[in-house]
Formats: sequence, C-alpha cells, structure tokens
Amino acid sequence: MTASEAGRLALHESRDAAASRASQAALARNALYVALAAAWVATCGSLYMSEVLGWIPCLWCWYQRIAMYPLAVILAAGLVLRDHRLPKYALCLAIPGALASTYHILLQKVPAFARFESCVIGVPCSADYLNLFGFITIPMLALAAFVIVIVACVIALRVPLAAGESYLAQAPLPALSPSATVSLIVVAIVALFTLSGAMTRSRQAPPSITSTLPAAPSAVGTSREAAAALYEQACAGCHGPANAGMQLIREEYLRQHSDLEVIALIRAGRSATDPDNFSGKAMPANGGQIGLSDEQLVALVRYLREVRER
Ligand code: HEC
Repeated sequence: MTASEAGRLALHESRDAAASRASQAALARNALYVALAAAWVATCGSLYMSEVLGWIPCLWCWYQRIAMYPLAVILAAGLVLRDHRLPKYALCLAIPGALASTYHILLQKVPAFARFESCVIGVPCSADYLNLFGFITIPMLALAAFVIVIVACVIALRVPLAAGESYLAQAPLPALSPSATVSLIVVAIVALFTLSGAMTRSRQAPPSITSTLPAAPSAVGTSREAAAALYEQACAGCHGPANAGMQLIREEYLRQHSDLEVIALIRAGRSATDPDNFSGKAMPANGGQIGLSDEQLVALVRYLREVRER
C-alpha cells in the first residue's frame, strides 16, 4: 500500500467515524425528546387522575410524583439550554422513581409485600384504581415512563464527545438564554397549575351527597346511580372503583351480616386492632365522611351487595 493509499484509507475511516458519531448524536437527541414526551404524558396523566377523576394518590404514588414532576421540567430545561450533562441530572430522578414504581407494583401484585404497607390510614397502596387488561396498573405506567427516560439517558451518555462538544448543539429547539429558559418554564408551570385548577373546578360536581340522593328513603332505594356515585366518592379511595371489585369488602362478610349490621360497621369504622379486622388496616368511621344519612347508607349497602354478591 502506498503512502497516499494509506492516507486515503485513514481519511475514509475518520469520515466513517464522524458519520457514526453524528448518527449516534441524532439518536441521543431524539431519545431525549421521547423521554421529554414520556415525562409530560406521565405528569399530565397523573394530574388528570387526581385532579379531574378525583382518585386520591397513595403514599407511593406521591414518591413517584416527586421524581416524575421535576423530570418534566428538567428534561425541557436541559434540551432548551442544550446542556449535554442533562442525562446525569435526569438519571438522579428517574432511577429512584423507577425503584419506587417497582416497589409499588410489588405491593399491588405480591400479597406478601402488601403486609409491609406503610399507609395504614388513608388510601392503601395495594389498591389499584386502574386495571387495564386485568393487570396494567398506574405504577406500571409510571415505571414505563421512568424506563423510557433511563434508556434515553443511557443512549445519550454513550455518545462519544470531544471536549467542548455537545450532541445537543444541533437540537431543533431554538437555543435560549438561561434567563429566557427559566422564565418560559415558570410560565409553563403556572399555566399548567391554572389549567389543572380550572379542570378541577369544572369537573362534574362530586356526588354532593344531599343533591344527588333524593331525600325520601323509598326513592333512595331505587336510585342506584346515586349510591354508585356516593361509593366512588366516599369509598373508592380505599376500596377501589366498583368495577375493580371493591377490595377489602369480602363477599362472605356481606352474606353473613344484615343490612343493619353492615350499616353499623360503616358508621363505626373498624380499627386495625379490632378482633374482626382481617387486613391490619383501619377503616375510619363513615369512611372518613361526615354526615352520611341512614338513607344513603341503606342505598350504599344495597349497592355493595349488588356488586359483590352478583
Ligand atoms: C380510609 C380508607 C377507607 C374508606 C374511605 C372506606 N373504607 Fe371500608 N374499609 C377500609 C378497610 C381498611 C377495611 C378492612 C378492615 C379490616 O381489615 O377488617 C374496610 C372494611 C369495610 C367493610 C367490611 C368488609 C369486610 O369484609 O369485613 C365494609 C362493608 C366497608 N369497609 C364499607 C365501606 C363503605 C361503604 C365506605 C364508603 C362510605 C368505606 N368502606 C370507606 C377502609 C376504608
């Protein structure tokens, strides 16, 4: 091989290497945009479920929110500022978030774990509001989002960089100054909160007990809708939505007790140390509601029987 041939070969190689680096950089950029979208879908989805659908987040849901919400902001800021260290910051949130989701999934799916549950009063973490196709729950969706972010970060971290070089330099987003970025993000967050507040106010009035339940006991008995709405508002926080089968309400318990006994139980609640307690979790008196009328309780118990004793 002559010297000029060798030179041409080396040039060729370095051109190939440059092309492969460029494509790796493009992949990393796109992956980070996908991660940004995943974090925003997860953030808006979680706000929609708690603020619009009225599902109360449990303790472990909160831990995952603590990791997910800042990710939505940090990924946006890092991309606009074209900071190639972005994956390192994002991983600090995404990894603990993924661990929290995994633990939450174990709480829901593995009975042995449910015993360690840390939230005794309030919404049990082992209850699931959402059960798509019979097994996909909210923490699984969260885990998917965290994994997307982690994979994108790992792809980005593997791009070989020369000193001072950034694969985000050619990002399609306009490069903004740090102060413009901060102002933009503050505006976006305020807008999101305002929107979520507006949606909360405009959501269908939560079954305001007295207004949806007719006053006369005979009428209450026939109003299945009112009882169903009351259940979703007052009981589903802990017992799960009716269509998920009302966890912690045993069918045999209903069969073995009269309406009056069940009503007495709902009125009084059941402490964790009560000899009848089977789950180790407490039910507050009236499910934590003030002023459930007898008529409402009659309708509720009829509804519980209808769903559980079918
Ligand atoms: C803050 C959480 C919470 C709320 C809200 C709540 N419950 Fe409960 N409930 C529980 C727990 C926990 C148990 C299981 C206690 C045990 O292990 O014995 C329970 C048990 C019950 C039982 C007895 C089930 C059985 O098999 O022994 C009935 C009936 C019941 N709840 C009805 C209701 C109704 C109706 C409402 C709505 C008005 C409601 N609960 C709201 C937490 C709650």
